[in-house]
Amino acid sequence: MRYQAPKGTQDLLPAQARTWAAFRRRAQEVFSLYGYEPIETPVFELSELFTRSAGESSDIASKEIFSVRSIGALQKMAEGEPLKADQKLALRPEGTASVVRAIAQHNLVPQGGAPAKLFYAGSMFRCERPQKGRLREFHQVGVECLGATDAVADAEMIIMCMRFFESLGLKRESMTLLINSMGDENCRPAYTERVRSYLKEHEDSLCEDCRRRIDDNPLRAFDCKNESCRKVVDGAPRFSDNLCDACRERFEAVKGYLDAAGIGYTVDPRLVRGFDYYTGTVFEVQVKDGLGSQNAIGGGGHYDKLMGEISGKDLSGLGFAVGFERVMLALEAAGIELDSGAPRGVYVVCVDESVRPTAFSLMQQLRDAGIPADGDTQSRSVKSQFKVAGKGNARACVVVGPDELSSGNVTVRDMDTHDEQLVATGELVEKIQALY
Ligand code: HAM
Repeated sequence: MRYQAPKGTQDLLPAQARTWAAFRRRAQEVFSLYGYEPIETPVFELSELFTRSAGESSDIASKEIFSVRSIGALQKMAEGEPLKADQKLALRPEGTASVVRAIAQHNLVPQGGAPAKLFYAGSMFRCERPQKGRLREFHQVGVECLGATDAVADAEMIIMCMRFFESLGLKRESMTLLINSMGDENCRPAYTERVRSYLKEHEDSLCEDCRRRIDDNPLRAFDCKNESCRKVVDGAPRFSDNLCDACRERFEAVKGYLDAAGIGYTVDPRLVRGFDYYTGTVFEVQVKDGLGSQNAIGGGGHYDKLMGEISGKDLSGLGFAVGFERVMLALEAAGIELDSGAPRGVYVVCVDESVRPTAFSLMQQLRDAGIPADGDTQSRSVKSQFKVAGKGNARACVVVGPDELSSGNVTVRDMDTHDEQLVATGELVEKIQALY
């Protein structure tokens, strides 16, 4: 086979593509209960949008971006000419930066206006080392709310996320909800310095990446999966002991709302998430079984400065995203099916060429009435047409033969009971509808 899907990508074959559609529909049902409306943004944007919002030293910006260059731009590069910003494009690694950009560009939250509440669904691209639950092209549904300021919005976001997972059939006890507060511009700089000094003291036990992170962005060491780094990080100063009063009060309020809603959570002082734009509340949902190390099925948090960086005007924002492929693995492990299968249609069996025009027209009539219908296009024998109908899980076959048709009839075979009846062509649609 000459061509295969590129490394780290996968085709969504019909059953998976139907499941992805069901997943998006479920997301829309749940998110619209909270007032969210759909938005679609381009699959590629200016690279700078993603690198600046994620943070230049984040893994996403420094290693995982898929750059997009036109042939013209590549030629310029080869000739040593510098590229302009609008020639440096990238496939989106996430939806947040794009949605915030769109909200700013179209002024969706005018001065003093109500929050913009938007949800999206689509492919995201990260050049990671592929493994189970980690792809280079994967699918997310996500939400962003721009303009809400109060702690209650953080809690509502988390509750909506958990409600979405439950609507898919995941049991609450099969998931762990981790929460943390990452502080804000008042308390985070001093905290970051404390972590930097701590890591410097333990530099010898850190991996090469984390040693580099000490200067660039010490909090990123919290994300490192290396065993020795994890041990060091376990002893690092904790966010919770270093929050300013406003951040501490806000985090307490969020926890209070979650308690009141009966949502169980674990405070994880090491939870920093992969993007530098977060401030204040962050959260992640992990599944306990079936996913190995890639067990985060969704996550998000609050971001105060992202809109300011993108548009020059601050606006408080928050959101989360959920990974389709990981949720599917979790549902599989729990034996839950989201897709109810392809709709069962009718197969029109054409006995010989003389009746083909009638068979063709009956097929159209059935489709016009909203009944999925299919028929032979390969001049197959009657026996093989029945075989095709069986394989396609047809609900019924309509057999169009010259003898029956001469008296205005066709034969309808119920494929479940194998009962057959003669039906006048004028009554076919009604008779088939009665089978459903
Ligand atoms: P994230 O945690 O990077 O957050 O991604 C959200 C979810 O996408 C993850 O929990 C995981 O299920 C899935 N995911 C991430 N990377 C991969 C991958 N390589 N392969 C398969 N699935 C993956 C964000 O993307 C933020 N934009 C969330 C957010 C929205 N924060 C605020 N608003």
